[in-house]
Order: sequence, then C-alpha cells, then structure tokens
Amino acid sequence: MDYKHVVVLTGAGISAESGIPTFRGAGGLWFKHRIEDVATTEAFARSPALVLEFYNQRRAQLEIAQPNKAHTALARLEQGYRVTIVTQNVDNLHERAGSTNVLHLHGQLCQARSSADPDLVVDIGYRPIRMGDTCPLGSQLRPDVVWFGEPVPMMHKASAVVATADTLLIIGTSLAVYPAASLAHEAPARAVVFVIDPEAEPGWIPGARVFREKATRRVPLLVDELLGM
Ligand code: APR
Repeated sequence: MDYKHVVVLTGAGISAESGIPTFRGAGGLWFKHRIEDVATTEAFARSPALVLEFYNQRRAQLEIAQPNKAHTALARLEQGYRVTIVTQNVDNLHERAGSTNVLHLHGQLCQARSSADPDLVVDIGYRPIRMGDTCPLGSQLRPDVVWFGEPVPMMHKASAVVATADTLLIIGTSLAVYPAASLAHEAPARAVVFVIDPEAEPGWIPGARVFREKATRRVPLLVDELLGM
C-alpha cells in the first residue's frame, strides 16, 4: 500500500510533559546555564568536567522520564502512514514510545563519541561520561550531541525527508535555532502543515493549521483525525 508520508518536526516542547525541561520557556535550561559554558566546543576545551556533568545530569533525568501521550500517539500514526520523525531533541522518548524512524538532528544523549573522531560513536545508555573515559583511540569521550557552532551532519538528510512530506507536523519547537528551524519552511507547497505549540503564532507558517495547545492534548486528537478514527 502506498502510504502517504507524514514528517514530524519535534522540539523540546514534546518532551516537556515528560518532565524534561525545554530550553527557552519558563524554567528552561538556558535560564539556568549559559550556552557558552556547557554547549560549545570552547566550553568543553575550557571546562570538560563541567560540560560532562551538565549532560550526565540530563542523561540521569532521561532514565526516569517516560514517553508521554504525544510520543505514543506519533508511534500509533505508523499504523496508517509512512512516518519520519525529525527531532531536535537528544532524548530517546520517541524510540521508547515505539516510533521506528527517528532522525536526530542534534545527536543523542545516550551515545558518546570520541573527541578525536566524530564518527567513533558508542552507546552508553544512561551511564555518565567521566573525565578519563576514553575512546579506543585513547581520546576523551564526549556527548554525541551537536554543540552550538558545530556542523549539523544530519541536516542534508532531514531536508531531503521534509521535501517528500505529504503532511508536516511541527510540534513543540520555538523554531529559534538554525539550520533546524529552516525545515519548517521546506515542505512541498502541496503539503498540509499543522503546528502544535501553546505559544505558536498564527502566522508562523503561512497556511498552517495552528493549535495553541499542549502536545499531550492535541497530538492524540490529530493522530485520530489523520487515521480517520
Ligand atoms: N506542548 C507543546 N509545546 C510546548 C509545550 C507542550 N507541553 N511546552 C512548551 N512548548 C513549546 C514552547 O512554547 C516552545 O515553543 O516548545 C517550544 C520549546 O522551544 P525551545 O525551548 O526553544 O526548544 P527547541 O525549539 O527544541 O530548541 C531548539 O535549541 O538549544 C538548542 O539544541 C537545542 O534542540 C534545541 C534547539
């Protein structure tokens, strides 16, 4: 069966109701930490232990977090559509909810990588990365996440995915960070676009249906609508 392709662009807002803080909303991570202290290569060079601890705390928090009804509804959507999730999130809640096709633009908390060779990646689950934890080449392990100013290796693939969308769902992202945010404007003209975000502005994406609601309320309803239930 030729299922139509639904592409889902998610941000921190879809995981907010799982207890994982967003970045820019009230109580957001960037109100507690300066980006330049914990999320840049310069920060890692200057204070590697501080950077490792910032991500160790987020990884430990992720272990006790659970996917919410928005994550599980998106997994259910695969019953009637080809679904590709393009997420800016480094958490694994989409996968744990059952989504089978997830593209992480900004890396993954549960992976570490060599600080000498970015292609040398190891699964570490929820374990902390400590100073002195080295890759097979002998260099310090770092979180396998994209820091500010670093390239976004998955961007080209993400653009190609969005270009084939029949439907684009944009859920829980401020669209404040490029190049990821540009994906919101790259769907084909024929695509139907939905935005779900309590702070979404009606004019954000011309022609989009905008729901100024939380993800756990609106995503299950929209998935039911798309599945024709
Ligand atoms: N349901 C839906 N959306 C929500 C909810 C919710 N319950 N709670 C908050 N939001 C929305 C906010 O209104 C906001 O628009 O989620 C969005 C979160 O925005 P940010 O905190 O900026 O997170 P995000 O867009 O994912 O940030 C993008 O910036 O710091 C970098 O790499 C980091 O991937 C991140 C990128």
